[in-house]
Amino acid sequence: MRRFLILGHKATVESDFTLNDLPGAAGRLDVLCRAIGATLFLSHDIRRDVETNLLLQDSVHIRISGELVKRLNPDERSTAALIKHALKALDDASSDEEVQSTPGIFVAQRSLSDVIDGFLRENAEPVVLHEEGEPAETYSFPGNPAFILSDHTEFTETDQVLLADFPRISLGAKALHTSQAITITHYLLDQREQDLNADLVLAHKVWGEPKAQLIITLLEDFDIPVNRMMHVPPSLYPMALDGLAEVRIMVHARDLARARRIIADYFEEPCEE
Ligand SMILES: C[S@@+](CC[C@H](N)C(=O)[O-])C[C@H]1O[C@@H](n2cnc3c(N)ncnc32)[C@H](O)[C@@H]1O
Repeated sequence: MRRFLILGHKATVESDFTLNDLPGAAGRLDVLCRAIGATLFLSHDIRRDVETNLLLQDSVHIRISGELVKRLNPDERSTAALIKHALKALDDASSDEEVQSTPGIFVAQRSLSDVIDGFLRENAEPVVLHEEGEPAETYSFPGNPAFILSDHTEFTETDQVLLADFPRISLGAKALHTSQAITITHYLLDQREQDLNADLVLAHKVWGEPKAQLIITLLEDFDIPVNRMMHVPPSLYPMALDGLAEVRIMVHARDLARARRIIADYFEEPCEE
């Protein structure tokens, strides 16, 4: 999974903001809405293997699951409306637990160190995106990255202290908009995934991530490296996306026969195409 965390230093944490002034009264919420779009949207599709995290004023954590989210549209105003719902749900919450405000959007009172601890518990590896970092071209991205970006302002001193132990990666010396940095990061990771997949062949095709995960875990137990490729038919978008993704289980050609035998023994006859 790819995770993104965007630190919104000025964005409002009050649910009564007006949708008519996202750049002003809402504290540049437009920047965060554009960043959400860049993390999750493809053309007529959504990146289901992405989790987008916003941290507003180091106190409100909003988490959007690409796999579960519904009612998310590419325009900034309707995205801001979902954030408004989340802030309202937090106002109404009676405990510290994360609450789901709309399908796939979760909100809780958290600080930056809480959010980072959460990433580490999920075995995600934080990577700070910063103009003055190690060049991305020569950096080997982790398999389960959590990219951390700032909004239209610089990381604060407190952020920098908390993030000091993590790799700091640059996409070039020019300061980009947050959403642009996200798009380039996706591009680099997509390219690398494509390279990794170059010599892969289809072992099986299933519907839904949970079943795919069972098969992948089984194959990995037999030391067969697996890559999954998600495909959501465009006909399903922008209707509700509720676990209907087709998952293609890809293995190296040399492992194909063994993988298919294992899938047949434990699950079902693998589909050829
Ligand atoms: C608009 S920039 C932040 C403000 C910028 N440092 C400034 O004041 O000019 C938004 C965020 O996108 C990411 N970013 C922008 N340009 C980048 C680059 N060249 N390499 C890596 N990350 C970048 C960083 O996380 C940055 O904090």
